[in-house]
Amino acid sequence: MHHPDLSPGTPPEAVHVMRDLASGLEGVIVLHSTRLGPAAGGCRLWHYPVTAAATTDALRLAEGMAYKNALADLPLGGGKAVIRLPAGKFDRDALFRAFGREVEQLKGRYLTAEDVGTGVDDMRTVREETAHVAGLPVAQGQVGGDPSPWTALGVLRAMEEAVHRRHGSGIAGATVAVQGLGHVGAQLCTLLAAAGARLVVADTNPQRAADLAARLGAKLVAPDAILRVPCDVFAPCALGGVLDGHGVTRLKAGIVCGAANNVLASEEEGVRLADQGVLYCPDYVVNSGGIINVCAEHLGWPLDEVERRVAETGERLRAVLDFSEQRALPTHRAADALAQARIAGRELDRSKAA
Ligand code: NAI
Repeated sequence: MHHPDLSPGTPPEAVHVMRDLASGLEGVIVLHSTRLGPAAGGCRLWHYPVTAAATTDALRLAEGMAYKNALADLPLGGGKAVIRLPAGKFDRDALFRAFGREVEQLKGRYLTAEDVGTGVDDMRTVREETAHVAGLPVAQGQVGGDPSPWTALGVLRAMEEAVHRRHGSGIAGATVAVQGLGHVGAQLCTLLAAAGARLVVADTNPQRAADLAARLGAKLVAPDAILRVPCDVFAPCALGGVLDGHGVTRLKAGIVCGAANNVLASEEEGVRLADQGVLYCPDYVVNSGGIINVCAEHLGWPLDEVERRVAETGERLRAVLDFSEQRALPTHRAADALAQARIAGRELDRSKAA
């Protein structure tokens, strides 16, 4: 289906190739867009069989960050760094120092932070070479540090909006199936339990799942059963790609709203969800609490600014869902269209009814 507000994906502004023989650094930094501010997005260290696979991943992830940051109303563009995990033993300190020098070369056009395979200690090493890094450890009460509590809170606000839209009611009494009980999932469950939701949970780590279920009085199911649980909301908080063709067929939830990035295995799955009458809350619209915290750390915003912006996640989702209804677009396409327009400086009407 073609829609005039949509392009199938937009090309990146720049691709910066990294290669440092001494440390073994090999990878790319993709600047998808710097129109709205520095291209912000984490640094992933992962096993890629060939450099082209790392580049493909970085291109996709950088575009996703640009859309997430634009729709979160942040003064940030979108980017991503992807480093190939060196084969065999390597000097981690030297690797991240070399990466820091690459970030520094971009003179603030790219802002890095941790992502899959990297952590706070790596960012501390990067900081030795450049100031364009966030996600560093902070003292109690200061803005920054672990973004996951903010991500969990933003997902809750979005879920409240979605449940209200569907059922005209609050979270109390709603059944929520949470897949993945790690940093975000566990905190989301705590918030949901306090709000009176009925929880069904699963994690591939059996001990983690049992502990959380006991603590919150949640019903525990096997990881391969969580998608099939009859519930009001399915909250994916584990890995991406869980809603592939098979997953969509098994789903018994009326709403999908969770923290995991790239929940849809492909674009078509979003269309299939819409056809099945499932309200899909686009991942990057609802999981922006973490990047809001990262942005605040970098720009020196106070804590109440983070609280206010995360609290508004529900309103930002509402604007996307309104636009999707006005244009008869599946929700994921509505979000992409709004993000692309915002980056291009063409504000589509996303708050008022047509
Ligand atoms: P995490 O690694 O702390 O937790 C993931 C949990 O999922 C682990 O407990 C793991 O055992 C479990 N898991 C893995 N595969 C599973 C499966 N097939 N079924 C059930 N459980 C499974 O990760 P975190 O930080 O909680 O992030 C969760 C998701 O949210 C990821 O997709 C991440 O990219 C995304 N996200 C996280 C943000 C953050 O602030 N941490 C921000 C935005 C997105």
